Amino acid sequence: MRILLFTGKGGVGKTTAAAATATLAAGRGLKTLVVSTDTAHSLADALATRASGEPEPVEAAPGLYLQQVDTQKSLERHWGELRDYAGRVLGELGLDQITAEELTVLPGAEEIIALLELREQARSGGWDVIVVDCAPTAETLRLLALPEALDWHVNRLLPLGRRLLGALSPVVRRVARVSAPEGEVLSAGERLHRGLLEIRELLTGADASVRLVLTPEAVVVAEARRTLTSLSLYGYRVDGVIANRVFPADGADEWRRAWAAAQARQLAVVHDSFAPLPVRIVPYLPAEPVGPAALARLAEELYAGDDPFARPGTEPPVRMTADLLDLALPLADRHDVDLARKGDDLIITAGPYRRVITLPAALSRRKISSAALRDGVLRVRFEAGGAR
Ligand SMILES: Nc1ncnc2c1ncn2[C@@H]1O[C@H](COP(=O)(O)OP(=O)(O)OP(=O)(O)O)[C@@H](O)[C@H]1O
Ligand SMILES: [Mg+2]
Repeated sequence: MRILLFTGKGGVGKTTAAAATATLAAGRGLKTLVVSTDTAHSLADALATRASGEPEPVEAAPGLYLQQVDTQKSLERHWGELRDYAGRVLGELGLDQITAEELTVLPGAEEIIALLELREQARSGGWDVIVVDCAPTAETLRLLALPEALDWHVNRLLPLGRRLLGALSPVVRRVARVSAPEGEVLSAGERLHRGLLEIRELLTGADASVRLVLTPEAVVVAEARRTLTSLSLYGYRVDGVIANRVFPADGADEWRRAWAAAQARQLAVVHDSFAPLPVRIVPYLPAEPVGPAALARLAEELYAGDDPFARPGTEPPVRMTADLLDLALPLADRHDVDLARKGDDLIITAGPYRRVITLPAALSRRKISSAALRDGVLRVRFEAGGAR
């Protein structure tokens, strides 16, 4: 099963590219699901179809299914126990019961729910291709990094929480009459944790890749460059760039010629920045590409004969051997990259983004002997043998 994620700045054409790619996949006989982690449900509009919380066949595109995650319903299923517990605690403290609606106000909750649904669909195994239309860049990054950030916190907090609660619960119960989490509640937390780990595995695995959508404008390109660095930092494979809304230069008036020239300059920057990734061009069409027929035409032009559903050829961003760790950080500036070590963890910062990598036992006992960023790869060497 192949998983394709589409991300990019707001309004550049993520939904269009995702819907077009999914339509093409179905047209080639692959059983395809297209989903969105964005709560603005524009996929249904782009495909000119109806959607519900379950995968629904898209009428004019046999083999293509669209799912629009129903946040409330999924929450009941995935977070029911957690919510009940939170409700009990708040109730005993004399506060109002927390409602499912209130829980979804938590930052990222809806995106997490969409991902839990995605995992369920991936697990069910019935799909050849799953296409994910992601939220605009910043949110997507947060969302994609989340499983790992959560992993880090849960690994430290769950055992700590259990110990603390074990020691405190009789006192807490007597004094504040707050119920200590029962075994079943911790297991709900642990289930959520495991679910998020599985999502990360799925999205950083060998069958998943990210396609960056951009328009050839300076501001958009600058953001796409930062996105490439941070996606690598978090372990995601980027396997292509889609330059959308490119003006054809032929037969142009003054106004369009100026735009075409400006776009050509940005496209040169795009090629230089993202090489060796393929940069695929989509022209600015004379009308909105809406509906499976228009999207299929767009996709044929977009992928022009190559196989967009083949396994990504790109290497995973993180590689570890017996004495070194390589992390691809394409386009990162030497001055923006920082490395720190805390016990078994390596904390790597690239600009505003940070990743914690827990070292495997073989490396965690050793001192770092050198670290250098060269040709877009951060290489950390460890001393041979010995304790740190
Ligand atoms: N190549 C194109 N030519 C003409 N119109 C296009 C093209 N690509 C996208 N559009 C139109 O531009 C609008 C925005 O595209 P789309 O919704 O795919 O962007 P998006 O990146 O998903 O936006 P958002 O960040 O809001 O989710 C839509 O109306 C779409 O039909
Ligand atoms: Mg969109």
